[in-house]
Amino acid sequence: MTSILQCMDCAAEYPIDTVIYTCPVCGGLLDIRHDLDAIYGKVTRQTFDGRLGALDAPQNSGVWRYKELVYPGVDNALIASKPEGNTNLYDVPRLAEWAGVNRLYLKHEGENPTGSFKDRGMTGGVTQARALGMDRVACASTGNTSASLAAYAALAGIQCIIFFENKNIALGKLSQAVAYGATGIRINADFDRNLELVREVSESLGIYVLNSVNPFRLEGQKTIIFEIIQQLKWQVPDWIVVPGGNLGNSSAFGKALSELHCLGLIDRVPRLAIIQAEGAAPLYRSYRPDASVNGYQRSVDELEPVQAKTLATAIKIGNPVNFPKAVRALRHTGGVVEVVSDQEIMDAKALIDRQGIGCEPASACSLAGTRKLAQMGIIQPGDTVVGVLTGHLLKDPDATIGYHNQQLENINATYPNRLHDAEPSVQAITRILQTTEV
Ligand code: F0G
Repeated sequence: MTSILQCMDCAAEYPIDTVIYTCPVCGGLLDIRHDLDAIYGKVTRQTFDGRLGALDAPQNSGVWRYKELVYPGVDNALIASKPEGNTNLYDVPRLAEWAGVNRLYLKHEGENPTGSFKDRGMTGGVTQARALGMDRVACASTGNTSASLAAYAALAGIQCIIFFENKNIALGKLSQAVAYGATGIRINADFDRNLELVREVSESLGIYVLNSVNPFRLEGQKTIIFEIIQQLKWQVPDWIVVPGGNLGNSSAFGKALSELHCLGLIDRVPRLAIIQAEGAAPLYRSYRPDASVNGYQRSVDELEPVQAKTLATAIKIGNPVNFPKAVRALRHTGGVVEVVSDQEIMDAKALIDRQGIGCEPASACSLAGTRKLAQMGIIQPGDTVVGVLTGHLLKDPDATIGYHNQQLENINATYPNRLHDAEPSVQAITRILQTTEV
């Protein structure tokens, strides 16, 4: 079964083992196109259900369980898998009520081996690096991509190089990349500039780039959707809500839904809601409010990059590389884009954390965005919504402690859980417990 690289703009085709990230003819982004006709009717819901609980690699992975839709032609011996995926889908009635929807599930991608959804992309990307015989891989990162790439490169025995901003990286993520042995370069530039730099340097030195411009990353990330729908016993929710930064997930989700629909594995496509942080919202800004269709769906203009600023450092991105693919996903799913403030993000995070689930700030866009869209009447009260939590609570402990101790600039802790200090005496501790609600 062969797959090919294909330009999303001019449809030019390239062999799967070509080392390119954009179309050499027109500069368009590349898709990996699988031969869906060849598997129609042969790959069914039962095919994937039969693999649940598998103990052997690669089918024990929540990515490679769907190998026919990820990378059918790759030799299993080349697959770099920990395994990853198989993350929980939490039914959260209290948060559903707070958001104003009938049913809300949270798909926790922070439960991947390195604590973020990036592992699903990296198992695809590092497998391809191996298939191509690459001995060095690189990425620019706001943190999670670097942690994940460092871990998968270590697994595959490949050297890893990371370009990151010399400030604004959450400590949990930075410590992972260092610990896993990556060569880290701290640069006095933001993520958007670092992504340009890593592409230029890698091109001239023959290093394989594993940012989400690499289509093998997106093939892995599609499996978030496959797993959600399989966990819902192939019932389709009304909405999938996801944070948007470099727009890799948004793009992958659109492709995943389109493929499931083409194969007849789902009978309708859920709507995608992409949620950006107010200070890092180039997709939202290019999504013109004046051109309203059906009262809510807007048309998408050219991307105008912005200088990004948000407490949710994971999505502090002003020039998202996957913009055209995200627009395609919005069109295909009747999707919407919304923004939430840092205050809304941190309050939603506190509530997710308080459920004993927890996530990093960027992930909380999913809950904050669901609530906002419900208040606007776009998500209907009777709708079933799946929000994606992209990263683990422990990724950014400073944000959590800063919120609860009221130490974050311009953020008010609406749902605080303040720490108490006590002298080492029974009386002092008793006094605290008698005056505090526990
Ligand atoms: N959530 C988290 C926790 C992330 O780390 C990222 C991206 C996103 C959301 C945005 O996802 O790019 O697919 O729209 N982090 C990248 C990084 C940029 O370098 O770790 P996207």
